Amino acid sequence: MTIEIETERLVLRPMAAEDVENHIVMMQDPAVAASLTPDQKPRSRAEEWRAAASILGHWQIRGYGWFSVFEKKTGNWAGRVGPWYPEGWPGLECGWAVKSEHWGKGYAPEAAIATIRWTFDQFPDLPRIVSVIDPENSNSQAVAEKVGETKSGEIFEYWSFKLDVWAADRAAWLDRFGG
Ligand SMILES: CC(C)(COP(=O)(O)OP(=O)(O)OC[C@H]1O[C@@H](n2cnc3c(N)ncnc32)[C@H](O)[C@@H]1OP(=O)(O)O)[C@@H](O)C(=O)NCCC(=O)NCCS
Repeated sequence: MTIEIETERLVLRPMAAEDVENHIVMMQDPAVAASLTPDQKPRSRAEEWRAAASILGHWQIRGYGWFSVFEKKTGNWAGRVGPWYPEGWPGLECGWAVKSEHWGKGYAPEAAIATIRWTFDQFPDLPRIVSVIDPENSNSQAVAEKVGETKSGEIFEYWSFKLDVWAADRAAWLDRFGG
């Protein structure tokens, strides 16, 4: 069965092979790479191809993963948002990244709220959802606040970074955003 999530302005579908080029292009943008690569610089196309393969592989292994985000009005690929839980992660995360030409339109929170709802629905026993965020990434912290997450006080060490674990508890989140 095809999974498709619709919001007011966006359509979300599981990231697929035909989205890999769009993902590589987004990750080659220095503004996006600054928050998502080990040295905060764009990685090579070859490295990003392998990273995209792990995103598609996450869907195979877990049965869920990042969704490609498409603008309804243009049909264009705008980013990727959704659940992410690789081995060693501090919890089932909702992650987000949007092409920089679309920053500030509220696409990340709109898509994230829809995917958090989808994730809680898929996993009735999931007590909370997290997002791991660099303390200097104010854009991402703004998204976390808009989607009902607060800083848990936990720190997750990844690459050379000490990342804050933001979290939303299931019951409180569903009370606020609806089931
Ligand atoms: C973080 C990110 C996903 C936010 O996506 P978005 O769709 O722009 O989300 P919003 O529109 O809600 O904007 C979030 C904040 O970004 C900032 N922002 C908005 N427009 C901006 C712009 N044109 N340029 C820079 N920052 C901008 C604002 O602080 C905004 O918060 P505010 O609305 O409370 O003022 C996006 O900036 C991104 O992809 N960044 C690179 C990848 C990344 O950091 N991912 C998260 C890793 S934890």
